[in-house]
Amino acid sequence: MEPVLCVRAIEKTFSGADGACPALAGISFDIAPREIVCLMGPSGCGKSTLLRIIAGLDYADRGSLHMATDNNGGTARTAMVFQEHALFPWLSVYDNIVYGLRLSAQRVPEDEVARRAEALLALTRLSGFSRSLPHQLSGGMKQRAAVARALAGEPPVVLMDEPFSALDPFTRRELEDEVLRIRSDLKTTFLIVSHNPEEAVYLADRIIVLSPRPARVAAEIPVRLPFPRNPADPAFLKIREEVTRAVLGAE
Ligand SMILES: Nc1ncnc2c1ncn2[C@@H]1O[C@H](COP(=O)(O)OP(=O)(O)OP(=O)(O)O)[C@@H](O)[C@H]1O
Ligand SMILES: [Mg+2]
Repeated sequence: MEPVLCVRAIEKTFSGADGACPALAGISFDIAPREIVCLMGPSGCGKSTLLRIIAGLDYADRGSLHMATDNNGGTARTAMVFQEHALFPWLSVYDNIVYGLRLSAQRVPEDEVARRAEALLALTRLSGFSRSLPHQLSGGMKQRAAVARALAGEPPVVLMDEPFSALDPFTRRELEDEVLRIRSDLKTTFLIVSHNPEEAVYLADRIIVLSPRPARVAAEIPVRLPFPRNPADPAFLKIREEVTRAVLGAE
């Protein structure tokens, strides 16, 4: 199957106050449609930088990115979910979700905007909260609203940077299950930065481990366990251990 995202030899060096700071030293991988890939690696190795480059929020010095353009008339190439929800505090949940659609150069008609918003509110179980402001929601609900906003433009790839790390373990698991449900309902592809080996093995079809800065791909670990996965299952624990060792080895 044609990859939905091809990352080729991406390099990035920052010029900071302390001199040149090489962050990415030639990162290459492909992601297939509907795949969930987790990106792991030591703190400061360049994971957020790579996600920002893929999202078009920063640029690479060298290398190339190729993204499948056939996304069923979607309005976005990618969408990002940040660690802190990054919702606009003065907009309701509904207006946050449709913000990008209303800005889009493709001019999505208002009835289509409403149809998508209703579907996303239902999908993320926020239907009763469309008029609420972000401060009236719990942490988990805010992150669900951020996920809904990311999905609104029907991007081929949703990028998530430690999306659930600020949540308690129970809410976190609920949101992880949501990602799995969205993948099977909407056929979305996810690239998710995580520091949590259990989360990565629970969600991912494949885990990409980066080396310390300047980052290279240190390991690619496929997770061939059926869904839903049981974190107490010995096969699960074995892969979790392998992932932990790969990340520690990369440190
Ligand atoms: N705008 C910037 N200007 C200068 N240096 C930067 C900038 N953004 C990131 N860096 C540097 O690039 C390196 C990688 O940062 P990045 O945020 O990508 O790491 P990370 O892998 O996401 O870390 P963490 O796991 O802690 O979130 C760091 O050394 C950081 O100081
Ligand atoms: Mg980061």
